[in-house]
Amino acid sequence: MTQTFTPRVFSGIKPSGGLQLGNYLGAIKRWVDMQGKGFENIYCVVDLHAITVWQDPRELKDATREVAAGMLASGIDPTTSILFNQSQVPEHAELAWIFNCVARVGWMNRMTQFKDKAGSNAEAVSLGLYAYPALMAADILLYHATHVPVGEDQKQHVELTRDIATKFNHDFKTDFFPLTEPVIEGPGMRVMNLRDGSRKMSKSGDSDMERINMTDDADTISKKFKKAKTDPAPLPETVAGLKDRPEARNLVDIYASLSDMTPEQVIAQYPGAGWGTFKPALADLAVEKLAPISTEMKRLMADKGEIDLILAKGAERARAIAAPILRQTYDIVGLLRS
Ligand code: AMP
Ligand code: TRP
Repeated sequence: MTQTFTPRVFSGIKPSGGLQLGNYLGAIKRWVDMQGKGFENIYCVVDLHAITVWQDPRELKDATREVAAGMLASGIDPTTSILFNQSQVPEHAELAWIFNCVARVGWMNRMTQFKDKAGSNAEAVSLGLYAYPALMAADILLYHATHVPVGEDQKQHVELTRDIATKFNHDFKTDFFPLTEPVIEGPGMRVMNLRDGSRKMSKSGDSDMERINMTDDADTISKKFKKAKTDPAPLPETVAGLKDRPEARNLVDIYASLSDMTPEQVIAQYPGAGWGTFKPALADLAVEKLAPISTEMKRLMADKGEIDLILAKGAERARAIAAPILRQTYDIVGLLRS
C-alpha cells in the first residue's frame, strides 16, 4: 500500500544577519504565491540552523523576529499559513537525531554548501554545521511536506532529504516519509552580488553596496541599483545575448522576478537599451515593490509582543502536526514509549 500525502509546503530562512533580496526573490515571494493554491503552508524561521555558526545571544532573538517580520510584511498570512520559529518545536531536533543515524558520512561529505562554508577550516567548524542537512531534512519530513520552495543553492539539500526518506523507508520497510519535490522555478532562483556577478548575493559580504537589504529605504535601494556593476555594452536584442554577461543577466533577472515577467519579456521591453535607461527603470521598480515591505517591517518590529504571539501560535499549530509524526517515527524505529 502506498501512502498518499496531503499537499504541504515547508520552507525556512535562517535568522543570521538581515534578509536580503535573494531571500525575497528566491524564497519569500514564492512562498506568498503558494498560499491559497491548495497547499497547507508552513514557514519557519530556522534559528537552530543559524547557531551552526556563532550568533550573539543578544542579537538572535531580534534577528528571529526580524525575519518573521519580513515574511509577514511580504504577505505571509499567519492565519492561513503556519509561521513559527524552529526552536519552539522541539520535535525538529528530535527527528534530526534519528536522521543523523540514517544519513551516511559519505553523503554529508558531498554537500557543497558545507565545503564552501567550512573552506580550508573544515577541522574547526562546528559538528552542527556538518550535520545541518540532516536537520533540514527533519524540518521538511517532520511535516511530511511534499513541496519545498527554495533558491537554487538549496537544491542539493532537498535531494539529500529525498535520499534520507528513501533510506529510512527502505531500512524500516515502510512508506512513511514522502519524496519531497524541490520547487525551484522562475528567474529569481540565483540572485547575484551587485558588485560581482560571479558571486551569490548574501547577507554577509564586505560591502553593503553589493546587496539589497530588505530593510533598505527607497533612496538606498535606488542608489545601489544605479551603482551596480555592469559591462559597458547596452542590453542585447534577445536573451541569448546575455550569455557570458553575468552582471547584465543578473539585473535582467531581478527585473523579471520583481515584475513577474520572463527575462525574454524584459528584453523585449528594453531591446538594446543603455544602462542609463535600464538602471533607473529597475531602481524605480525595486523601490515600488520593496520600499513598502521595508516600511511594514519597521512597523511590525515596533511591536515585538505581536510578533512573538504570532510565532507562539504558529508553533502550537506546527506541533499539532509534528508530534504525531515524530511519535510514529519512534514506533517505526522501535524506541520504547512506556
Ligand atoms: P538563508 O538565508 O541561507 O537561510 O536562505 C533562505 C532562502 O533564501 C533559501 O531558500 C535560499 O535558497 C534563498 N536564497 C538566499 N540567497 C539567495 C540568492 N542570492 N538567490 C536566490 N535565493 C537565495
Ligand atoms: N538550509 C536552508 C538555507 O540555508 C534553510 C532551511 C533550513 C530550509 N531548513 C529548511 C529551507 C527546510 C527549506 C526547507 O537556506
